[in-house]
Amino acid sequence: MPNLRTVIQETHRTLESASIPDARLEAEVMVMDVMRMPRHAIFAEQESQVSPQQQEQLAAIVTRRLTREPLAYILNYREFYGVNLLVNPAVLIPRPETETMVEHALFMALMGMESRELVIADVGTGTGAIAVNLAIHLPAARIYASDAYDATLDVAAYNVRMHNVADRVTLLKGDLLEPLPEPVDVIVANLPYLPTERIPTLQPEVQWEPVAALDGGADGLDHVRRLLSQAAESQEDGDNRLKPHGVILLEMDPEQMTEAQSLASEAFPEAEITVEPDLAGLDRVLSVSLAGNL
Ligand SMILES: C[S@@+](CC[C@H](N)C(=O)[O-])C[C@H]1O[C@@H](n2cnc3c(N)ncnc32)[C@H](O)[C@@H]1O
Repeated sequence: MPNLRTVIQETHRTLESASIPDARLEAEVMVMDVMRMPRHAIFAEQESQVSPQQQEQLAAIVTRRLTREPLAYILNYREFYGVNLLVNPAVLIPRPETETMVEHALFMALMGMESRELVIADVGTGTGAIAVNLAIHLPAARIYASDAYDATLDVAAYNVRMHNVADRVTLLKGDLLEPLPEPVDVIVANLPYLPTERIPTLQPEVQWEPVAALDGGADGLDHVRRLLSQAAESQEDGDNRLKPHGVILLEMDPEQMTEAQSLASEAFPEAEITVEPDLAGLDRVLSVSLAGNL
């Protein structure tokens, strides 16, 4: 029987020769999965034998991956901000850049929390990646997590239960802010923001993901535009979706920031509008603060 070191090396070579991105990392994650081992163990136990059954399981994973099916869909999970989330082709695979949204929302919430109970909306929740993490890190917060699709909400429901936050995360179905039953302190939204015509040019893995989670219309800003006008109109007609001191955090492509900033200042002329960078230093999160601090 081959040992772990050999199996990882061979898997790495196979993936690399098929030009799979991050081949070494993916080989390690595949081996961790079939061996049911945490990351540190696959390095500490490199002489361990890999049984024929485990080799077969690994071969089945590699065969699927060579079709460019995303590894997260094959393994049915993705780690995001330190927690494992169920994923399937009904949902977008959470991206590392979205961790910036979580960081920034936590920062805003912790700055403004004091003794108040915060109410947060995660609009377009997908797997529930943002909502689950905010619920874990803000034990006094109540969170609405909304999406337009039942199949997506089924995945979010599983993740919310799996991480024991179902008592504080309420799932809602509907268009953007419409299903919110009360004004919230913070709206976080990673809405579809790819320009329609860019989608077919992206890497093959992206083509497996739901178009409804990617497609933001001609300039990618359709959903952002609608969310900002829903929020602004609700303030005008008194059916507020956001409290008077509320904050909106929107993830988008760095190239969309200038346009999004002017959309936000048209919708909320009095608001403080700032842009937060991601870990790569790229402008990633637009922050619209209605009245300074929370
Ligand atoms: C880019 S994905 C983000 C998913 C998740 N928040 C994340 O960061 O991984 C966008 C999500 O918005 C949802 N969505 C698309 N149109 C919507 C709408 N009109 N109202 C509510 N959600 C919508 C999609 O189903 C998808 O789950």
